[in-house]
Amino acid sequence: MSGADRPAAAGPLSRRTVLGSALALAGCERPAQSAAPVSAPPLQSAAGFPVGAAIQAAQLQDPAFAALVAANVSQITPEWEMKMEYVVADDGTFRFDAPDRIAAFARTRGLRLFGHTLVWYAQSPPGFERLDEGRVRFADAYRNYILALVGRYRDVAAGWDVVNEAVAEDGEGWRDSLWAQRLGAFEHMVLAFRHAREADAAVPLFLNDYNLEYLPKKRATFLKLAERLLAAGAPLGGLGTQTHVAADLAPGTLRTAIGEIASLGLPVHVSEFDVSLSRARGPRRRPELEAGQARVYAEAAEAFAALPAAQRFAFTFWGLRDKDSWLKRENGADAPLPFDDQGRPKAGAAAWAAALR
Ligand code: XIL
Repeated sequence: MSGADRPAAAGPLSRRTVLGSALALAGCERPAQSAAPVSAPPLQSAAGFPVGAAIQAAQLQDPAFAALVAANVSQITPEWEMKMEYVVADDGTFRFDAPDRIAAFARTRGLRLFGHTLVWYAQSPPGFERLDEGRVRFADAYRNYILALVGRYRDVAAGWDVVNEAVAEDGEGWRDSLWAQRLGAFEHMVLAFRHAREADAAVPLFLNDYNLEYLPKKRATFLKLAERLLAAGAPLGGLGTQTHVAADLAPGTLRTAIGEIASLGLPVHVSEFDVSLSRARGPRRRPELEAGQARVYAEAAEAFAALPAAQRFAFTFWGLRDKDSWLKRENGADAPLPFDDQGRPKAGAAAWAAALR
């Protein structure tokens, strides 16, 4: 599962590690309780750049959550309802009800909408897999999908993840996918950027990936791919680094990674920030994990704020409240986000905001 296989110094999360982390968390004084809430300014008011959050349409029905979003961010990313798994039905037709609700929320509250994601190796719906009548029919369906989705939200989109997680985990080339097989390993990426530009003449178009901080070789291949896309004339307008990290991340890692990613001069999007407690290595007490988490929050803020203003596209949290985090499915005791289940700011949020003062 992408973004979930945090390398144990460069390997997938082992079963032993997961169990060890879960036991370590469970052994803490307050196994499922997050630390006492702290005071922190609203995230967007603390930042001199756009702050975003991943959201789901159903969450927006909750007035308290809608207020938390409106108070803290100026950009939203559909966590999954703008992906093919939602938009492309099994018969190949498109459904836009949930993404339309998310876009309407953005419009009525004056928020930017960040589209995620057009092409991802992890999703190739049956509607596309059945298109085996050769390349032309498949290429037309691919273009039609991108034109329909990007064109639909042209008035409110501030950017798009066009290609997501294209680079192999070991940095040796690019991942295989239905798109690569049918349209070419590199060509399908150039086509995706060109089709998105055809649908929206101005929106910044991003290449997005994960573990770029943990895996320098993957980061190098990611940057080479970006340079190759630019050389091929693809309208690449920004680089997304997901930044799904853990509370034991070595100090300086984010500063180095974000600085290197910015070296191409393109806008940078910290696109899916969360800091897992349960993915941290070794038996640690919860207070120690939460202190490490706050330190990582602070370093992320400092590293992003150190970029030139033109390159600070946005800093997006992959959710706002712990209970909404995708990481809870991996370990129910995890607490990776800036707010607790009740929407109260945590030490990480305070450290993140303090680092920006
Ligand atoms: C995750 C969502 O958070 C989950 O709700 C969904 O079930 C699977 O996808 N990298 C990405 C995101 O680019 O799209 C993934 O989001 C997390 C990893």
